[in-house]
Amino acid sequence: MIERLNSIKQEILDGIENHANSRATAFELRKQFLDSKTGKIGQLMKEMKNIAPEERANFGKSVNELKDWASSVFADLDEKMKAKELELKYKAEKIDVTIDADSEETGNLHPITQMRNQLIDVFAGMGFEIFEGTEIENDYYNFTALNTPADHPARDMQDTFYLSPEFLLRTQTSAGQIHVMEKEKPPIKILSPGKVFRSDDDATHSPMFTQMEGLVVDKKITLCDLKGMLDMFVQKIYGEETTTRLRPSYFPFTEPSVEVDVSCFECGGKGCKLCKGTGWIEILGAGIVNKKVLENCGIDSEEYSGLAFGIGIERVAMLKYGINNIKHLFESDINVLNQINDN
Ligand code: DAH
Repeated sequence: MIERLNSIKQEILDGIENHANSRATAFELRKQFLDSKTGKIGQLMKEMKNIAPEERANFGKSVNELKDWASSVFADLDEKMKAKELELKYKAEKIDVTIDADSEETGNLHPITQMRNQLIDVFAGMGFEIFEGTEIENDYYNFTALNTPADHPARDMQDTFYLSPEFLLRTQTSAGQIHVMEKEKPPIKILSPGKVFRSDDDATHSPMFTQMEGLVVDKKITLCDLKGMLDMFVQKIYGEETTTRLRPSYFPFTEPSVEVDVSCFECGGKGCKLCKGTGWIEILGAGIVNKKVLENCGIDSEEYSGLAFGIGIERVAMLKYGINNIKHLFESDINVLNQINDN
């Protein structure tokens, strides 16, 4: 009998050695020996009847000792497994703060949107408010009210997409000037960004492009105000050391009209490839609002005067970011767009 007990003891030790590698397997092993119904140690008690009566007391004592021993061995084992599992859990959850973070690819705004936002920032800082007109206009707002009636030669300056004899895709954000001046009384200070359309297509022209119109109407507005605002604009976009010069030009809705050049920000005015050796780069058209345009909108041209300018956003962006073909701005090539992150 004693041998039986010893062999069970050995079985327990072997089981622990070979099979108990977690709390769950240790618990299963314990059940094999200590389960109240099926455990091997419990079963021994049932054999009591086969034992000679004088040995029963001894046998019972030995079985109880084995049971106590096994209970404490398995209790120790459970503690050990608990500690082991906790350690594994801690290891698995350990965070190595020195590992490099996964880099996330972030997108950026389209260069035209970036430039549009920069221009809005510059002019909003000077007190301009935004007016967004519509892309479909009628002939009156796009041309006639801007002092360009039907047979006016200046209509040839812009090749127009007509939708009907009356409606067209606006060729210039200048149309917004009329809407604003019809609705509001001076003082007026608006900026009107938006898409415009012309039947025109080469390396520097696209059938759809973006303009930013500026209009100021107040008492005693002069070319000096225009020059001051445009200087501020080029300094913010192209650098503090840049300046502008105004050259006489012609637009039907301004008188006098000017073409505005920025001093070359590439060579500082000495002359280079970008400015074609002149030291100056043409960037926009502007002028003093033609009295006829003010009168068309019911504004007294004796009391008020205005300045206006029209910026081609693609042109300003191409110059700033060194883009040589306007198509790059519309092809959405991610390799090109990723290079321009200016905001
Ligand atoms: N609308 C002109 C164009 O698209 C640009 C322009 C020139 C706008 C002179 C103006 C201006 O407001 O005063 O070519």
